[in-house]
Amino acid sequence: MNYTEILLLWISASSHGLNILVILPHVGKSHQLVFEPLLKQLALRKHNLTVITRFPQKKTIANWRDINIGDNEVTTEILDMDLLTGTRLSQLTCRFLLAGQGEHSCASGLGKDELQNFLKEENQFDLILMELFNTNCFMGLVRLFEAPVIGLSSSNPPAWIQRLFANPENPSYIPTHFTGFSDTMTFLQRVENTLQLGWDKFMYEYFMAGPGNNLSRQYLGVDTLKEVDAMYNVSLLLTNTHFSLNLPRPLVPNVIEVGGIHIEEPKAIPDNMAKFINESLEGVIYMSMGSTLRGSSFPIEKRNAFLKAFSRVQQRVIWKWETDMENKPKNVETFRWTPQREILCHPNTKVFISHGGLLGTIEAVYCGVPIIVIPQYGDQPLNAKALEKVGGGIILYLQDSTEETILEALDKVLSPKFRQSAKDLSERFKDRPSSPMETAIYWIEYVAKYRGASHIRTAAVLMPAYQYLLMDVIAFIASIVIFLSYCMYKIAALVFMKLRTQNKIKTS
Ligand SMILES: *[C@@H]1O[C@H](CO)[C@@H](O)[C@H](O)[C@H]1NC(C)=O
Ligand SMILES: *[C@@H]1O[C@H](CO)[C@@H](O)[C@H](O)[C@H]1NC(C)=O
Ligand SMILES: *[C@@H]1O[C@H](CO)[C@@H](O)[C@H](O)[C@H]1NC(C)=O
Ligand SMILES: *[C@@H]1O[C@H](CO)[C@@H](O)[C@H](O)[C@H]1NC(C)=O
Repeated sequence: MNYTEILLLWISASSHGLNILVILPHVGKSHQLVFEPLLKQLALRKHNLTVITRFPQKKTIANWRDINIGDNEVTTEILDMDLLTGTRLSQLTCRFLLAGQGEHSCASGLGKDELQNFLKEENQFDLILMELFNTNCFMGLVRLFEAPVIGLSSSNPPAWIQRLFANPENPSYIPTHFTGFSDTMTFLQRVENTLQLGWDKFMYEYFMAGPGNNLSRQYLGVDTLKEVDAMYNVSLLLTNTHFSLNLPRPLVPNVIEVGGIHIEEPKAIPDNMAKFINESLEGVIYMSMGSTLRGSSFPIEKRNAFLKAFSRVQQRVIWKWETDMENKPKNVETFRWTPQREILCHPNTKVFISHGGLLGTIEAVYCGVPIIVIPQYGDQPLNAKALEKVGGGIILYLQDSTEETILEALDKVLSPKFRQSAKDLSERFKDRPSSPMETAIYWIEYVAKYRGASHIRTAAVLMPAYQYLLMDVIAFIASIVIFLSYCMYKIAALVFMKLRTQNKIKTS
């Protein structure tokens, strides 16, 4: 036996691979992409992964088995921009979109033959990793396998997910998922934020938990709303956030921030694109509205405003765009697909124009490139406000975009001061005791080691809301105060009466 063999043997013996079930039911591919590098790392570390997914791997990976619950449906470039104008109303109705999407994921996923056949096998798992978002119907699987659960959140977790960990969600300074607020709010914003928090919880109860439970009963035979404490017994949450970007807030010990975990070693930029970027002496502006929005649905007059503005700057522009674009100025080039992280970290890239999706935002922050955010839907207004507050970019609403406002915005983020601010943010974002990947692996193995590690859950998780909110205590103290006040009033009245009668006696 040579040295390496002994070493390998030692590694495999010491990291006795865990048998891990991974559940990624959401129809949006970005939700899987965030955690794929982590899963690959786990497989490399000899853990045995069984991944329930809509996006199976194209190449086989050692220690990795996919259970495909997708329909090979197209899930990128499916939303039109003018559908989602980034207005208040679209933010409020966003939850319905989410709930509908969740129900679709549940109904189409749970019924798949692949999944049903997999359930007939006799499998046992040490750990379940599961995306927690809008698909609570998959919680039924947890009951079937009885293994500790680790939640994954690809965004800032919405209120109904925070609740599973009793993570503080005080609306006085913590903006809820769908509001475009920062952590300092005016009085009216706090009113709205509080109402939105309630609305989130209400929406979840009636439009996600209920229908999801029906589907779980139908396909898995598990009632997810019975014995809720045992059902929603999640050991840990890994969230794709970091306080340097998503604003500081208190976290219970089993909510762990691993924002930036999806950022991998850079790959090469395709030659034609690399040449275009290399040769732009004044730098490059990179524009992309992400993978879900259809870029070509960009409203025509807004598109023209951008093109006019671009024709007046010295930088070259790369615009992620799926079709041919007319009236392009000479310095603008469109590409169907763009290696985003690589472009953003290229030293010539000066500005990112984006819809404020969390992945792209994190990539730009990582690379130290300022962003002009045009928030559209979901958590984008929230990400945008946080980014603006920490000095990584500015917001330009689509409805306010004109040639002049676009030029102003570009001017602002291209200034040396703003670029320095983005670099400083990048440094704060990357400055951590251990990398997001190491952190995540550490905590996953920690939960396995302590078989669910229920010692890191706070007592608040199992508390009824009235106790958590101290309603009983407040009612108790208030009734004592009222009772004592009443007694004092009575005594005072009695004394007063006595004095009066004495006075009367005296005078008579
Ligand atoms: C890996 O998991 C699968 C279940 O999907 C199981 O059939 C297989 O035996 C496991 N392999 C090891 C080495 O535990
Ligand atoms: C769940 O199914 C029951 C009947 O099985 C039905 O009465 C109820 O309305 C359904 N709930 C939801 C939220 O779909
Ligand atoms: C672009 O520049 C980089 C670094 O300066 C270099 O490695 C790469 O080969 C260049 N690519 C092209 C196509 O010019
Ligand atoms: C929650 O899970 C832990 C381990 O994962 C277990 O020890 C505990 O008993 C569970 N609690 C409930 C209420 O099922």
